[in-house]
Amino acid sequence: MCGIVGIIANEPVAEKIVEALRRLEYRGYDSAGLATLEQGHLTRRRAAGKLKNLEEKLRQEPLHGTIGIGHTRWATHGRPTENNAHPHATKRVAVVHNGIIENFRELREELTAQGHVFVSETDTEVVAHLVDHELQSGKSPSEAVAAALPRLRGAFALAFLFEGAEGLLIGARLGAPLAVGYGTDAMYLGSDALALAPFTDRISYMEDGDWVVLDRNSAHFTNAKGQSVTRPHLRSQASAFLIDKGNHRHFMAKEIHEQPEVVGRTLAHYLDMSQGCVRLPFDLPFDPAQISRITITACGTAFFAGLIAKYWIERFARLPVEIDVASEFRYREAPMDPQGLMIVVSQSGETADTLAGLRYAKQNGQNILSVVNVTTSTMARESDVIAPTLAGPEIGVASTKAFTCQLTVLACLAVALGRARGTLSPEVEKTLVTELIALPGLMAEAMKREAAIESLAPALAKAKDVLYLGRGTSYPLALEGALKLKEISYIHAEGYAAGELKHGPIALIDEAMPVIVIAPFDHVFEKTVSNMQEVAARGGKLILIGDDNAERDSAVALQATIKMPTMAPTFSAIAYSIPVQLLAYHIAVFMGKDVDQPRNLAKSVTVE
Ligand code: F6R
Repeated sequence: MCGIVGIIANEPVAEKIVEALRRLEYRGYDSAGLATLEQGHLTRRRAAGKLKNLEEKLRQEPLHGTIGIGHTRWATHGRPTENNAHPHATKRVAVVHNGIIENFRELREELTAQGHVFVSETDTEVVAHLVDHELQSGKSPSEAVAAALPRLRGAFALAFLFEGAEGLLIGARLGAPLAVGYGTDAMYLGSDALALAPFTDRISYMEDGDWVVLDRNSAHFTNAKGQSVTRPHLRSQASAFLIDKGNHRHFMAKEIHEQPEVVGRTLAHYLDMSQGCVRLPFDLPFDPAQISRITITACGTAFFAGLIAKYWIERFARLPVEIDVASEFRYREAPMDPQGLMIVVSQSGETADTLAGLRYAKQNGQNILSVVNVTTSTMARESDVIAPTLAGPEIGVASTKAFTCQLTVLACLAVALGRARGTLSPEVEKTLVTELIALPGLMAEAMKREAAIESLAPALAKAKDVLYLGRGTSYPLALEGALKLKEISYIHAEGYAAGELKHGPIALIDEAMPVIVIAPFDHVFEKTVSNMQEVAARGGKLILIGDDNAERDSAVALQATIKMPTMAPTFSAIAYSIPVQLLAYHIAVFMGKDVDQPRNLAKSVTVE
């Protein structure tokens, strides 16, 4: 949801800003821009489309300033044109912004009445004019920002650059992340530590309401109450991660293939393999036996991980689990039990709706456990306990390895809760742990079906609509399969509980409709077969994702089978994610789509 960068150094910064923006491009890629001071004058380069367009512009018209700000955009207000690209600027100040200024209309009217002329369709431009207005009234840059910030409503991370101020950058944060990086005679601002990793691993995370004044050697923080504060210096692990595609064509392919390894790594963190039990790598700050109810909230793929976890937690821990997408949960004023546990699930740990759900739950006295991939994220910092997924940075916009690592953590958590509550015997725990340990091998085995999956892509790429069906934990996986396909191939797809088909969606079935059935050989397999027969009877083209037993017992004409290794069914959703992801990936690649940066999307959704 937009990435922002600021650098103040003793050498030209444009190239470094672009490098940082490349690492932030996952947050949005509709347009990009930067501003530096050239002999004290604010000078901008901006370009619509991907970052490479800005790079081309900079090749033709380089910038040499030693202080600058940069931006990669995911459009909220105004089309993704060059004119709407950040930085937005007046004669005196330039600004880059991640977030939404909710009261921009009234501010714009007020400033227009005072003679300010607006040239873009964005909400951000009011910030530049508001600060400009304060500067014109004689305030210093810091005073102007201090006066302007309280007038902004909404969510923002901002970086400011001022005409003639070669030694001053200002950053501000409310509801959108911003980190400060400490270099040698250089200071940095960035939407995340990953962006700054090539330059420094010494980081401070700003708190909500903070603003910061940077010179080349120091950072001075002020909190929301106007008090001067210090923020801890941390060592960021981000530089340990190489951001490249390895031998793969796309980040998504690399991340799909990494899954046996990262799921294995996550399991090793949560299991005592020699004892055959789950050993959580943290103490629970509450007594699981006293918990009366669990609420899960998340968005998109992370929500589907939560939905699968509901099956596991209810079964193992005998606790009722309520789950809702965060954009609904945050506003529906859900009553919450005093002894409740809220689990938030998020790769980024910054998703605005999930974060708001977390805060609502906190206000309502819940214990907060966050399953996050970015352990320095806002959600992680605002939780009572963090259950990290060890997926490593996920760059492809479509979530793959973060999803299976979320499932892995949630599976371990469900088992741990069951044991702690006495609803799961040590013997059953041992069996479940053995099944979990088998998963990385099964995922690697599933990966061997890639060529067969790829061969299905040309026919499926012709479909206008695709249905995914599943029962039990395969139902949320069907939802995830449909999401994966639509977001990267732009083919319309829907996931349904297989048993729900006859209540309406079956009307869609005809010879042109591929129906992908996720059917591990489990206790509901026979029921799924009945639903497959209903599809076959109406001419639907069935593609089965299942093992030998499933293929043998399905007893209907299948257009194809994606053959999975035989496995215990409880955690099959983790291994069955592999063919689901590979199928979407190969269809999209066959169609020539940009799988790593699909249109209209961004990886970290820090606006509502
Ligand atoms: C889909 C996808 C999104 C995210 C969602 C939540 O492939 O990646 O649906 O899962 O935006 O993001 P996080 O997990 O960062 O909260």
